[in-house]
Amino acid sequence: MAARIQGIARHALSTFMIGETAVFSSNFEKLKTLLDGITAEDINLVVGTSKERSNGSYSKAPATHVSIFECPFFTLAVFILKKGCSIPLHDHPGMFGLCKVVHGQITVVSYDIQTEPSSNGKVDNFSKHQFHTHFKQRPVRCKKSIQTLDQNSETCVLTPTSNNHHSIHNFGTEPTAFIDILAPPYAQEKGRDCTYFRECNPPLNQVSTIVMDSCDSWITEIPPPLDFFCDTQPYRGPVVNLEIISQPPE
Ligand SMILES: [Fe+2]
Repeated sequence: MAARIQGIARHALSTFMIGETAVFSSNFEKLKTLLDGITAEDINLVVGTSKERSNGSYSKAPATHVSIFECPFFTLAVFILKKGCSIPLHDHPGMFGLCKVVHGQITVVSYDIQTEPSSNGKVDNFSKHQFHTHFKQRPVRCKKSIQTLDQNSETCVLTPTSNNHHSIHNFGTEPTAFIDILAPPYAQEKGRDCTYFRECNPPLNQVSTIVMDSCDSWITEIPPPLDFFCDTQPYRGPVVNLEIISQPPE
């Protein structure tokens, strides 16, 4: 019988290989359901053993990337985030994503970009990624939301327009780990580079004209933060490769 992670990768391939067709939504929902059931044991992941803690074998990297599988249609990986560490506010331009916590607890702070009337009265499309460069370097209005997730939580989902800009924090007292599927993968040459942001004040000319509510927030682009970087660890779970996940389910 196929391992759970192999079934997830197989379904991810069939979901993202055909793109956003009529069946995409139901395929994506099924992928989320499959991911809801996965555990750290399913991928032989041991996070922060007492031995590792005591001998100081951890690197200084705030996060560790464990690649499980990648292809032109999606990436499947684990991120381990040390206690007290964060993945800074960043985006996934034009991408879908699924994030399932398998150890510890994370807090995801999301910023959904608001479409606003521009000064000429027309709707400004800067929330769409193909116009991403239009809003670089200037503050953008967002709706901010906060989710706390642990291994009992459902998979957190992002789309090109929802939860796409987010920061991820480990406020807990132990490392946390989550499985991450991104589709299509980041690809700088195709306009899918990762951009970093920070919260900022609203532009002065907007302060008096926009009614803010408690969820409103503004973000602006920043250079990649120098204090955030990942080291890597080998994947030790069931083998996931194109040959295995291209086969029909048993
Ligand atoms: Fe992310």
